[in-house]
Formats: sequence, structure tokens, C-alpha cells
Amino acid sequence: MGSALLCVRDLTLRFGGVHALDSVSFDVEEHAICGLIGPNGAGKSSLFNCISRLYAPSSGEILWRGQPIGTLARHRIAGLGIGRTFQNLALFGAMSVLDNVRVGSHCRTQAGLWASLLRTGAMRQEEAAVERKAMDLLRFVGLEGVAGSRADALPFGLQKRVELARALAAEPALLLLDEPAAGLNAGELDALAALVRRIRETLGTTVLVVEHHMRFLMAVSDHVVVLNFGRKLAEGSPAQVQRDPAVIEAYLGAPAS
Ligand SMILES: Nc1ncnc2c1ncn2[C@@H]1O[C@H](COP(=O)(O)OP(=O)(O)O)[C@@H](O)[C@H]1O
Ligand SMILES: [Mg+2]
Repeated sequence: MGSALLCVRDLTLRFGGVHALDSVSFDVEEHAICGLIGPNGAGKSSLFNCISRLYAPSSGEILWRGQPIGTLARHRIAGLGIGRTFQNLALFGAMSVLDNVRVGSHCRTQAGLWASLLRTGAMRQEEAAVERKAMDLLRFVGLEGVAGSRADALPFGLQKRVELARALAAEPALLLLDEPAAGLNAGELDALAALVRRIRETLGTTVLVVEHHMRFLMAVSDHVVVLNFGRKLAEGSPAQVQRDPAVIEAYLGAPAS
């Protein structure tokens, strides 16, 4: 207890009469890939929004390396080492893929974003390093061929991958992925699962990933937390969760093969 990278403790979030989250508790161990699954409206994105301080929980606590982060300003969350992608994308559509990834580096560089965009002389060297790193990341996620394309010209699945590269540019210790597999076909799903595992293996990143897609989530996760109507329904290894009668009844409808 308390030694995990991230601890969610009795987290409750209400919108009027709706309990988006109802006393949810679980831990994410360092270097783990933790899957978060549950039907539409179960509270998965709300949980991410609480962790990244877009929403203020009604009660409960989130601990980062044992310290409560509930009172931190939102802009300090990325600086702690928590990065994320969004269910509905948050790219700069008119900017190039490369520029989108470069933006992700700016919480790690000395110069502020605006100073860098203005390209004062002293910034150029740092900018060259940022650009090299962005290209390395694009290669890492398999997007080097579209570095110069406008972000919004890419299919949805590739845009999600650009967001992933941008989140990685900030060198997060914890990466929150909200439905990264949306819109992918079976082959692309397998490639994404391999990429998420490669992120953990080569960068050492801890991952908390929301997905509807059972096969993807079970293939990629060490540990799975199941939400239903804002409550934690079950947690355990992928095999334990898939056998859990409450999970089968509430979510799977039938045992997953
Ligand atoms: N900003 C908001 N205002 C009002 N209700 C919200 C808001 N965000 C989420 N909810 C509600 O909270 C519940 C959980 O939603 P969400 O976290 O998006 O679920 P999931 O990501 O699991 O599909 C839903 O009932 C949703 O309508
Ligand atoms: Mg969601």
C-alpha cells in the first residue's frame, strides 16, 4: 500500500446526481501496464480527467509516488511526469505531424514554448535537439514517413499514434492512453499492442490504458481494473478478470475466448 507509482483512493466524482466515479481505489505499480476496461459511461475517461486534473474529484485522493496531487495546479501535472492522450484527439490539426510532436517536448526544455516558436537565436540549438528527438520518436512509433503531413490529413488511427508520440516527447513516467485502439483493424491492433509493450520495455514507461477492445487490452496488460457504473467491479490479472462471473455478466456477456 502506498508504494505504487500511482494510487487512486476512494475516488468519487459527481456531476449533479450522476456518480461518474463512486469510491474507486486501485494502484498502478511502476513499470506495469495496467488496463482499465468497462462499458460506455463507466467512468474511464472521467478517471483520466481526475488524474490529469481536468476534473476536480468530489472526494478521495490520488497519490503520485506516495504524495497527494489533488491540490496541485493542472499545469504542474505534466511536469510531474504524467502524460496522456485523449479519447477524442487533441492535436493541432493544421500543424505538421513533426510540429505536433515537437510541442510535446516543451515541458522538458529550458525555453518556453512561445520563445521557441519565435526562434530567438539562443533557442536554435535547443530546437535542433527537440527536432531530432521528435524524429526519433516518429520513427519509434512508425510514423517517420508522414512527418511533414498535416496532422488532420491522417486517418484517425494514425492521428492517435501522433498523439502518443507527442505524449512520449514529454518523457512521462506514467502514460495515460484513452482508447488508443479506436478505429484500428485487427492487424493494426496487434501492431499497437506490440508498440505499447515496446514503450514499457525500451523507455521504462508505466502505462495506464483505457480500451473497449478486450483482445487488445488482455494482450497488453499485466493487471486489469474493471469499472461499471462508476464503481470498481473487479481487478486482477487478465486471466482472473476474464473468469470473474461479475465481469462476465456485466460486461462480456459471455466468457471471452
Ligand atoms: N463533463 C461532464 N459533465 C457531466 N457529466 C459527465 C461529464 N463527463 C462525464 N460525465 C458523465 O460521467 C459518466 C462517465 O463518463 P465517462 O467517464 O466519459 O465514461 P467512459 O469513458 O467510461 O465511457 C457518464 O454518465 C457521463 O455522462
Ligand atoms: Mg471514455
